[in-house]
Amino acid sequence: MRIETTIQGVHAALAPARAARKSIAFIPTMGNLHAGHLRLVQEARNRADVVVVSIFVNPTQFGVGEDFEAYPRTLEADSQLLFEAECDILFAPAVAQMYASLPQYTSVQVNEIANDLCGKNRPGHFTGVATVVTKLFNIVQPRMAFFGEKDFQQLAVIRHLARDLCFPIEVVGVPTVRAADGLALSSRNGYLNELERRQAPALYATLQTISAALLAGQRDYAALEQHATEHLNGLGFVTDYVAIRTPWLALSDNTTTEWVVLAAAKLGKTRLIDNISVRLPLDVNSSASQPVNA
Ligand code: PAF
Repeated sequence: MRIETTIQGVHAALAPARAARKSIAFIPTMGNLHAGHLRLVQEARNRADVVVVSIFVNPTQFGVGEDFEAYPRTLEADSQLLFEAECDILFAPAVAQMYASLPQYTSVQVNEIANDLCGKNRPGHFTGVATVVTKLFNIVQPRMAFFGEKDFQQLAVIRHLARDLCFPIEVVGVPTVRAADGLALSSRNGYLNELERRQAPALYATLQTISAALLAGQRDYAALEQHATEHLNGLGFVTDYVAIRTPWLALSDNTTTEWVVLAAAKLGKTRLIDNISVRLPLDVNSSASQPVNA
């Protein structure tokens, strides 16, 4: 595995693969890798000739008072894991390599959906994500890019930006990897204390309850969202949102059978997010076919 810290280094490392028309898969990360990230690498390894992973804790996606400084940086351990997972190139740039100046003159703004859900409480977050992913796409120029479905809104933002900006890149969503008790793996789980760690799986359990209610025919989305919020708050979470949406988080879609239930809630100082996908029969007369976030 080659480790590159400069954009030029990545270009040089990828030049032979490009000349030989090999397929390049890319996984952008912020490091502190866990089994969820390694699943992305595995999927990429299965599908492409060359696997590139980036590790970059991107300052522009952290708001004031968020955990940019505290975010776990474990490059040595991450490099070892990536080597074992047969990653070909690790790109681990410093901030100055990615941002010649901050703030930049240019940023990538994905309208509407970036300001919904997590975006409401984290203004500018998805602009930071969309901007750095655009830069990374331009640096690596992969044929496909892999993202975890745990960060569902992020995945939707990236699908929109890849389509809207005509990137010739297949954006692949990979299912969430969970602990045995259901908690979605996340680098931020390390912030949970012992008690919070025991409470945390209730977030996914609540999403499963909503999924079961939808499958049983319940279509009063607002009531389901409200009830779940109250339930989580009663368990000690501070719930940001529970929301039922379409997979692209589109403004409206009255033809879809695919739905996703998303939630974000704080447990102590740790913000947890999770989601569950549900396939429902198409029922044009029910509220399930109405625009849900118009
Ligand atoms: O999901 C992450 O780790 C980050 O948001 C990403 C996509 C690497 C952009 O910094």
